[in-house]
Amino acid sequence: MKTIEVKKDIYWVGAIDWDLRNFHGYLTQRGSTYNAYLIIDEKIVLVDTVKHYLYDEMLERIKKIVDPSKIDYIISNHVEMDHSGCIPKILQLCPNATVITSPQGEKGLRQHYKQDWNFQVVKSGDNVNIGKRNITFLQTPMIHWPDNMVSYIPEEKIIFSNDAFGQHMATSERFDDEVQYSTIIEEARKYYANIVLPYGTQVQKVMEEVRKLDIEIIATSHGIIWRKYIPDIIEQYDKWSKNETDKKVVIVYDTMWNSTKKMADTIKSAFESKDYTICMYNLQATHISDIMTELITAEYICVGSPTLNSGVLPTVAAFLTYLKGLAPKNRKAIAFGSYGWAPLSIKEIEETLKSAGFDVVGTEKINYVPSEEDLEGLRGRVEGLI
Ligand code: FEO
Repeated sequence: MKTIEVKKDIYWVGAIDWDLRNFHGYLTQRGSTYNAYLIIDEKIVLVDTVKHYLYDEMLERIKKIVDPSKIDYIISNHVEMDHSGCIPKILQLCPNATVITSPQGEKGLRQHYKQDWNFQVVKSGDNVNIGKRNITFLQTPMIHWPDNMVSYIPEEKIIFSNDAFGQHMATSERFDDEVQYSTIIEEARKYYANIVLPYGTQVQKVMEEVRKLDIEIIATSHGIIWRKYIPDIIEQYDKWSKNETDKKVVIVYDTMWNSTKKMADTIKSAFESKDYTICMYNLQATHISDIMTELITAEYICVGSPTLNSGVLPTVAAFLTYLKGLAPKNRKAIAFGSYGWAPLSIKEIEETLKSAGFDVVGTEKINYVPSEEDLEGLRGRVEGLI
């Protein structure tokens, strides 16, 4: 295990989770990393930790650089246990260390670990001198939890951004210029869509502050560290957080006897006739978190389900629950589906989309099996809506 220096005397001491495939409902097909950092100055500082089951990997990396009992500060930028999970164990080796965190961070750490550690609570603009360097703090609530903050070292132009700008991908490389750019940006997009999407307004405020900083390195807490493509990822976050969309439609459906599938195909052809980019997903074949990745730049979403008993198919119910939680803003929607004796699935889809803040511009239902005339009528009505 070799040591990885991010800047002189600043080391990556995180862990690689090669096997991770589920992060609270998000399919992490490339695994992930939990990035902790060790700063060697007059004071020794550990920035965040890793998930509890990867403690040994983190400890081995720290021990290659310094005796862990010498750690003076542990910065907890975020309470969620993928980052705080090893604080209790590492503190057993450096019991006099101070835990630096935000006000909500202190509250959250106490609630998680029931320990009365040496806390130092910091707010935006606070500064801690560690010798040759200073660490300043910026609270970034809701990116991803209320407690989140980022830490910045002006002398090094490095920001420890925690969840912001992350990607779930396990790689042996640590920097953005060592991995194919298209892969990193795809995973950053998926990460934004599935983790950060509900908090666009907060992201915009943070982006204002981040732009004021001189940054050479964004040391994320997941995936690779940005050093070459910093303007690119900042531009992407700006676009995503403004909810800017492309001329694109996402059509999501499940089907029972292919009637709803025929409706989905017809809706697709209506959008094709208006030159939209099409993203079409049968929920039997695509994970809901991959659909979200495309949805962050889609102008329209069309959701279809036949009526099963008095509602939607279970796959569609799961998708709608996930979508409602992430609730992208400024999107238009169409609810559609086939039915036998009562069109209740379409009503359920419409109501859920409306409650999630979508502008539902159309509802389309067809009884049992659509005829050619039914589909022609559907196509004409959808073209009229676009
Ligand atoms: Fe990577 Fe919100 O934790």
